[in-house]
Amino acid sequence: MDSPVQAMKTGAVTEEFDLAAADYDRMVGANPGYHDHLEISARRLAEGVGDGGAGLRVVDLGCGTGASTRALARALPQAEIVGVDSSAGMLAVARTKSWSPRVRFVHSRAEDATAARLGGPADAVFAAYLLRNCPDTDAALSAATALARPGAPVVLHEYSVADSAAARAVWTLVCWGVVIPLALAWTRRTRLYRYLWRSVLEFDGAAALRERMCAAGLEDVATRPLPGWQRGIVHTFAGRMPPAGPQAPDRDGV
Ligand SMILES: C[S@@+](CC[C@H](N)C(=O)[O-])C[C@H]1O[C@@H](n2cnc3c(N)ncnc32)[C@H](O)[C@@H]1O
Repeated sequence: MDSPVQAMKTGAVTEEFDLAAADYDRMVGANPGYHDHLEISARRLAEGVGDGGAGLRVVDLGCGTGASTRALARALPQAEIVGVDSSAGMLAVARTKSWSPRVRFVHSRAEDATAARLGGPADAVFAAYLLRNCPDTDAALSAATALARPGAPVVLHEYSVADSAAARAVWTLVCWGVVIPLALAWTRRTRLYRYLWRSVLEFDGAAALRERMCAAGLEDVATRPLPGWQRGIVHTFAGRMPPAGPQAPDRDGV
């Protein structure tokens, strides 16, 4: 039988994000470092594409209310950015914000997003706090890599505490001491935030996630830390699609 976390991922995650959408920005705004850390990971992705992103398409999978999209837009001001999310409620909040004409949003599960639906292959893919919410981590990862061109960076920004008892303890303390009480006080709903606590505890350690990324075909896979109370708890996981293979010689061998 599925664990409660797995059952939530399979059945109710999108609906819970729909219900949480109106208060989501207020909740994450109370988390010191939330936006700064997204910006750090977005800049790490930008290091892999350069040139302000001119002429490039960057996909933000699980864009939510647009916090990660904003971080990408700052890091790559010339790029076309396509935010993708399964929650109509989260996207509705994202769309109320002011965006450059180069930013657009698509309502889709990450697993169903194809390059054709997003206007073409991605020159970079970002997924912040998405993978842990997907019922099949490997399927979501392969959907992300399927969108990316050869050589494109694929960057995850994600909680991962399984490798450290200290990180798990801090995480539990923060969730039950701050996040869940705040959700109760501000929204009268705690289901999503209790799920957040458990789903992070049950998610891959950093080494296991790197292994998945390598198994998904990514190269140069590495974890980089983020500062603040999230050190050892939230990480940037960066990889890159393999470069295009050499062109096959034509039949005359030239
Ligand atoms: C924790 S929020 C993160 C939002 C945003 N990336 C940020 O950094 O603030 C996770 C988002 O992933 C979306 N999501 C969950 N499962 C998804 C899936 N299978 N495909 C696309 N989006 C999904 C949720 O609707 C939610 O908006």
